[in-house]
Amino acid sequence: MSTKPLNRRFTAAPMMEWSDTHCRSFWRLLTKNTVFYSEMVTTGALIHGDRKRFLDFNASEHPLALQLGGSDPKALAECAKIAEDWGYDEVNLNCGCPSDRVQNNMIGACLMAEPKLVAECIAAMQAAVKIPVTIKHRIGIDDMEDYAGMLNFVRTIADTGCKTFIVHARKAWLKGLSPKENREIPPLQYDKVAQLKKDHPELEIIINGGITTLEHSLNLLSEVDGVMLGREIYHNPYLLAEVDQKIYGSNRPVATRDEIIEEFMAYAEEQLSKGIRLNYMTRHILGLYQGLPGARRFRRVISEQAHKPNAGIEVIKAALTALNELPFTNELTD
Ligand SMILES: Cc1cc2nc3c(=O)[nH]c(=O)nc-3n(C[C@H](O)[C@H](O)[C@H](O)COP(=O)(O)O)c2cc1C
Repeated sequence: MSTKPLNRRFTAAPMMEWSDTHCRSFWRLLTKNTVFYSEMVTTGALIHGDRKRFLDFNASEHPLALQLGGSDPKALAECAKIAEDWGYDEVNLNCGCPSDRVQNNMIGACLMAEPKLVAECIAAMQAAVKIPVTIKHRIGIDDMEDYAGMLNFVRTIADTGCKTFIVHARKAWLKGLSPKENREIPPLQYDKVAQLKKDHPELEIIINGGITTLEHSLNLLSEVDGVMLGREIYHNPYLLAEVDQKIYGSNRPVATRDEIIEEFMAYAEEQLSKGIRLNYMTRHILGLYQGLPGARRFRRVISEQAHKPNAGIEVIKAALTALNELPFTNELTD
């Protein structure tokens, strides 16, 4: 756990199967300041499952939050304590995930219909730990009244002393849409999130959903306290290389992609020596050269070779060679 208060001006979204320890370790080579969020872990998995698998992370990943899924105050309190003891800097409750699987277990966005229960959960978590307890939610669900519904939800939770609200700026439609569609089809409503900050300047409001550039992030930061990016930084991770300078005012030079890949190879080598398979790590770097000539060849070499048994660092080197090869055709950018 870090002793400095977390600065959430720029945060990386929790993403199942994506924002795992290797992904975050890679991202950390690009940005020191961004606050990272883990994949969601359910209370059941943490209490009964393989904790090490769900919780282990590298020291470099701080500042780092663990996101929990659940709705039983006692279990959430127990898991928040486990997260704190494991060294996480924050624990976040997921009230935004719309998947059917989690709805059946009263996890995720369906909890927006139960503000009192969520407040009980947050209060129990806060009582169990010293690290900040935060929440990630949507503008609303289904036919919940757009702004008034969210305001009631946020106020009920803020009454527990919870200060930080991460708002995915669209509703979740719990019937008929897949989780993927629920990240694309319900319209973005940034104005509602900005209004929330105006009505509650004492709360820390982080806006999420559809943000793809640092310029847009900076614009939004004039209205709210922080931004959270997910898909864009996953597919185009080099965007993170300027976050410390443009968002946090650092005057460190911006690292080049080649410097990043060198550092990543050192990381991968260390992990390989612990028996971690290469593709567990390299799947997160496929977008590093996005937009540059040869990016497709870089991705192809990694996709075709990194999963092979005993694949080692030579695969990344071969991908770099392919990246820098003269194109056969009139290839400009990928
Ligand atoms: C593959 C994937 C997995 C996700 N898993 C989670 C999750 O575990 N918890 C959560 O709160 N949100 C999850 N999300 C939603 C993101 O955190 C974020 O709210 C959403 O993608 C919108 O932000 P973006 O437009 O910047 O991607 C996931 C999104 C994606 C693409």
